[in-house]
Amino acid sequence: MTPSEYLEFRDKLGHSSGFQSYQNRVIEFYLGYKTDYILKIYSHEPEIHAQLLEAYSTPSLYDAAIHALHRAGLNIDADVLERKPCITYTANDSVKEAWKEVYRNSEKYWQLYELAEELVDIEDLFQQWRFRHMKTVERIIGFKVGTGGSQGVNYLKKVLDQYFFPELWQLRTEL
Ligand code: HEM
Repeated sequence: MTPSEYLEFRDKLGHSSGFQSYQNRVIEFYLGYKTDYILKIYSHEPEIHAQLLEAYSTPSLYDAAIHALHRAGLNIDADVLERKPCITYTANDSVKEAWKEVYRNSEKYWQLYELAEELVDIEDLFQQWRFRHMKTVERIIGFKVGTGGSQGVNYLKKVLDQYFFPELWQLRTEL
């Protein structure tokens, strides 16, 4: 689709936008990126709201992985183990050191090592989607503001800096 073809119907979208995709937020919530404004958007749709709320308040896939590190005997700070699941995860040194131990002793911790690489695959694919979408948007509407009211491409570039599993990326520099 060319920019001119898109402009033929863009006005008809009103304020509709990928911003309102609850499926996308459910995926992000289970991966640990928790943004609550989508809950307000769906406050009048009980079924979708319940689905969103469950994903929002449930520990993420990464929380589960960190608990698995702890169960394997690796040291994890108590505040990470007891953290509130509805808050976006931020990097922690004890988690990074535990993953480093896994990567340095991959045979001993084989299952955790495999899990880590699967998580990196997921994040990599998600980021590729974000990048492809951002470039498509730049190609079609340049730097216009989005129909959802964001700063368009500049907003989408900012989201690219968000990591679901930060320590799994950081450790590569330190191995
Ligand atoms: C001409 C094609 C497209 C344009 C110009 C476009 C534009 C945009 C813009 C500007 C945003 C930022 C929010 C806003 O202010 O509206 C956005 C967000 C989003 N779009 Fe698109 N989009 C396009 C195609 C698609 C397609 C094909 C999908 C899914 C299959 C999609 C899914 C999303 C999602 C999930 C978001 C939220 C991203 C986030 O908040 O991280 N978009 N889009």
